Amino acid sequence: MNAPFKQHLIDPEICIRCNTCEETCPVDAITHDNNNYVVDSTKCNFCMDCIQPCPTGSIDNWRIVTSGYSLDDQLSWNELPKQEELAAGNDGEAIDAEVLALLETAHTGAGGKSVAPATAAKPAVNLYNRDKAAVATVTGNYRLTHEESDVDVHHIILDFGDVAFPVLEGQSIGIVSPGVDAEGKPHRVRLYSIASPRHGEKPNTSNLALTVKREPKGVCSNFVCDLKKGDKVEVTGPFGATFLMPNDPAANIIMICTGTGSAPFRAFTEWRRRSMPNAAGRMLLFFGARRPQDLPYFGPLQKVPDSLLGKHFAYSRVPGEKKVYVQDLMRREETTVANLLRSPATHIYVCGLKGMEQGVDAALDDICRSSEQRWHELRDAMRSEGRYHVETY
Ligand code: A2P
Repeated sequence: MNAPFKQHLIDPEICIRCNTCEETCPVDAITHDNNNYVVDSTKCNFCMDCIQPCPTGSIDNWRIVTSGYSLDDQLSWNELPKQEELAAGNDGEAIDAEVLALLETAHTGAGGKSVAPATAAKPAVNLYNRDKAAVATVTGNYRLTHEESDVDVHHIILDFGDVAFPVLEGQSIGIVSPGVDAEGKPHRVRLYSIASPRHGEKPNTSNLALTVKREPKGVCSNFVCDLKKGDKVEVTGPFGATFLMPNDPAANIIMICTGTGSAPFRAFTEWRRRSMPNAAGRMLLFFGARRPQDLPYFGPLQKVPDSLLGKHFAYSRVPGEKKVYVQDLMRREETTVANLLRSPATHIYVCGLKGMEQGVDAALDDICRSSEQRWHELRDAMRSEGRYHVETY
């Protein structure tokens, strides 16, 4: 039997194909095709640089193998293979202690992931997978954007009935579209952020809501946006153990999003509104959309009192008006943001278009510079304390 070794792999079921790992890898060990992101085991040197930036944790997967998975193997996967049985080698030899230790780390993940807020509740993850999916019934499907808008975003409510599907604000679920693709392979599981609080869209029921944008050629988004009341859907997950809401009522939460990146922030806002409406911590939302008609939850958001949620909407395509992005509004609210940044109770969450990441970082850098703070030092400290979270795609 070949000596077992540890192989770095990416979970295709959870990966959102954001390219962050490929951009980060200093030795070009990560590559992709139309199907998957994969790791070349002949190049990966276990530097772990890719682990922290991954927004989903899909990068943090390891298997102890004797022959290793080739790039072609990995490119063809719809899900990660299970850890192969190594307890006795092909020649009947018992596995040694060193390999057993490696096996243990293979199950827990080897890299330091980004960190959950200190006061977040403990999430349940990976309770259901493609082989053992939870079946939900659709109990609602409403269009969230104005009827005149070209941006077709839906609020979908999925009910699990008697089946336990525990979630926390900030987690995602996977949706399995029925049927197969042009090559006869099952469709890839797609991840969607949960838009409802932990106790359900309807309180104390086993249901949850999603915010889904119809993509012109998107198999899963079209499947989900076309669902009717009573339809059954196969669901995997829940996923995500770090982009979670602090439970501390004194925590200040700055939320920055575009489009359907608003889903987790609806969940955060609803949880605060329902469970601690008089919380001392401030919630501040910077939300970017093309026009008011294209902004999901535009109507409901107007009804959330400013005392609970400070709202700042950035519109980029209102005829006759200057293009405004979320980062412009953050600069406009410089004093408020700078004061919040000084507090160790402040958390920042960024969710939505990948392009926004750099602009938001630059805005925070400028705000810090003019308030005698150092953003890059502060950002690193906040990240390691579970107070800075980015989930972009
Ligand atoms: P834009 O009109 O320039 O595309 P979408 O509707 O495509 O999901 O985008 C949501 C919002 O995010 C739009 O207003 C879009 O503006 C804006 N946006 C696009 N790129 C960036 C960026 N780099 N930083 C911040 N916002 C952006």
